[in-house]
Order: sequence, then structure tokens, then C-alpha cells
Amino acid sequence: SRIAVFASGNGSNFQAIVEAIRNKLLDATVCLLVSDNPEAFAVDRARQEDINTFIFQPKQYASKDEFEKEILEQLRLEQIELIVLAGYMRLIGNTLLNAYPRHIINIHPSLLPAFPGKDAIGQAISAGVKETGVTVHFVDEGMDTGTVIEQIAVPILENDTRESLQERIQYSEHQFYPSVLKKLLDQE
Ligand code: GRF
Repeated sequence: SRIAVFASGNGSNFQAIVEAIRNKLLDATVCLLVSDNPEAFAVDRARQEDINTFIFQPKQYASKDEFEKEILEQLRLEQIELIVLAGYMRLIGNTLLNAYPRHIINIHPSLLPAFPGKDAIGQAISAGVKETGVTVHFVDEGMDTGTVIEQIAVPILENDTRESLQERIQYSEHQFYPSVLKKLLDQE
């Protein structure tokens, strides 16, 4: 399957997917990294991996529709079948949703519907819960509202800080996202 990963930041999940493919845990190709942030470390990772990038600056467009049309053009050129969001910090609009029905997925660092939106990890710490987790879900027009595909729990320990919890969550994301992708692609 031909995949595009969308990332705005560090790109550690992007990297984990690329490595899972290299290690034959996943039969797919990451053909394109899409980023709305030219400074994102994900962009450096893509160059390092020789993966094509499409980088844009949202401010240079009149609307989401305008930049999503350009993204779509790139996705078509690369014959992308599945869009994998990995720390892409914007809502997906109708242009992409209509072009890829049920073929856009996201990973979120909580057990949705708990703690949607920004800083899910901080929200979990503040709430004082003993457990949080990671959710992979289909993307719809809402913020972290699409149908859940799979979830995994992650414990919150007594002495956890935002940083220590984030580290534990990211470690589990890096195993979990490729494994959920594999199941999804096996079903296609
Ligand atoms: C991950 O924690 C993911 O769950 C959230 O954004 C973070 C991205 O991290 N949606 P990275 O850029 O993949 O390192």
C-alpha cells in the first residue's frame, strides 16, 4: 500500500513507521511526507530517508481548501492510497476527507473520547487518572472524534511528570501505530 504521512513536528511516529517497513513488519511504502511546517524535524527525517516531501505554509493560501487542493494533487501524483496523520496539528477539511473516505487515520495520545485536542498528556496528568493511553482512529471533520480503530492503555505512575509520561506514551505509540497499520492493510 502507498502511504503519505502528515506531520507538523518531531516526526518520531513517521520514523517508527518507516523503520517498521524496513524491518518487514509492515508491507507498505511511505511515498510522501506532507508538512505544514518547513522547520519540522520530520522534514529532516524524510530527507535522511530519501522520502519525497510536500511542504507548504498555510499562511500563503487564502483557505484550507486551497492548500488541500495542492496536497491532493501531490497525493494523486504519488498514487497515495492511505493518509496517516502523525502529529499533524490541523483539522482535515472536506477536500481531503471527500477524496479519501475512511482512508485517513490519526494517532492520539489518550484513550478517546477522554482528553481530545491539544496537550492530551497534560490533561491526563491534571485529571489525576491512573491510566491513559493511545488511540488510532479514522479521521472525520471533528477534532479527535472519528471512529476508533484500536486503543492501548498506558499506566500513569505516582511520580510521573508530563515528560516521563510522554516518553512512556511515545514508546508505546512507536510499536502500536505500525501494528494497527498492519492490521488495517491486511483487511484491505
Ligand atoms: C504523538 O504523540 C501523537 O499521538 C500526537 O502527536 C504526537 C506526534 O509526535 N498526535 P511525533 O511528531 O510523531 O514525534
